[in-house]
Amino acid sequence: MAITGSPESTAEIRSIYDRSKEVKEFDDTKAGVKGLVDSGMDKIPKIFIHPSENLPKASDPNTTHLQIPIIDLEGVHGDQRIHIVNEIRRALETWGFFQMVNHSIPISVLDEMIEAIRRFNEQPMEAKMEFYSRDRTRKVRFLSNFDLYQSRAADWRDTFVCVFDAVDSLGSESLPLVCRDALLEYKKHTEMLGETLFGLVSEALGLSPTYLRDIECMKTQFMSCHYYPSCPQSDLTMGTKKHTDPAFLTILLQDHIGGLQVLHQQCWVDVAPMHGALIVNVGDLLQLLSNDRFKSIEHRVRANIVGPRISVACFFNNHLPPSNRTYGPIKELTSDENPPLYMETSAADYISYFSSQGLDGDRPLDHFRKYNGVI
Ligand code: OGA
Ligand code: NI
Repeated sequence: MAITGSPESTAEIRSIYDRSKEVKEFDDTKAGVKGLVDSGMDKIPKIFIHPSENLPKASDPNTTHLQIPIIDLEGVHGDQRIHIVNEIRRALETWGFFQMVNHSIPISVLDEMIEAIRRFNEQPMEAKMEFYSRDRTRKVRFLSNFDLYQSRAADWRDTFVCVFDAVDSLGSESLPLVCRDALLEYKKHTEMLGETLFGLVSEALGLSPTYLRDIECMKTQFMSCHYYPSCPQSDLTMGTKKHTDPAFLTILLQDHIGGLQVLHQQCWVDVAPMHGALIVNVGDLLQLLSNDRFKSIEHRVRANIVGPRISVACFFNNHLPPSNRTYGPIKELTSDENPPLYMETSAADYISYFSSQGLDGDRPLDHFRKYNGVI
């Protein structure tokens, strides 16, 4: 960057500098956003203030008449299967999202998972601090804003992360005791439900039911357990800024507070909380595999004066070493008329690129698009 010495550029450099200092100070507390709230502050620090163009606006179109599809999985292994496959295809082609009911995970397991994440976050600060880390090779950790150092504005959110793989290398003793049993129980259920879902999605693409499982799309489960504290100036910041998910498929559990919004036909649509339901959405890698047939749709979470809000995103992926399997548009889904739109990439490389960009930049999937739109 050329430094001209003009007053504007000096001021800009000073403000970037001050921001990184404040960001580091916040990070060094290891106490997350909840630490700020507990210290009694009534104005949010500047590093959390988002540019106004990225915030919800009073003038945003009213979309209360719209909602993401709700799909009932009752009978999925029997006479309802074809009907359910058709509904899923329609949902993933248009919204990229749906809510599912009768998915077979008991409501008590969902409720206990949310309570366990509450317990983790509301235990004494010292107990959480020992998990605080930005080391992406650690399979169990706690942090605030994975993109804290890359993005222009921080989100009002703390996250506990744990990564399960097929051979269970995690070792359950490394999970915090306050939430260990709930995590293991929930993971057992999401794995089973994941098998069902990947079967349905494979069929919705016209492939054999085991196709996506056979190419190891659900080898790892990356759990992002979010805690969104109540925010005293919720109109200035976001819970999670606009993004798409860098995975194949996400199962999302949210509590009763609300705030998740999905971009549909250029309008932000609220995903109304439904007790006992789970949300499913297409990730970037499934959009890539399906050659743009299924859509990885942008979504975000509003900050809220009411809180805390708790949610758990379970990302199905295959990003851990030693896997270096590469993924590109599925051959059976492409033809001369429908040529592959993406380059091959491993899931690990995709995640690395996503993480290096943070949530502020251009859509990461576009980086893997062939020809970059120019033929
Ligand atoms: C995510 C996400 C939404 C939520 O973790 O990628 O979009 O409701 N979470 O927390
Ligand atoms: Ni997401």
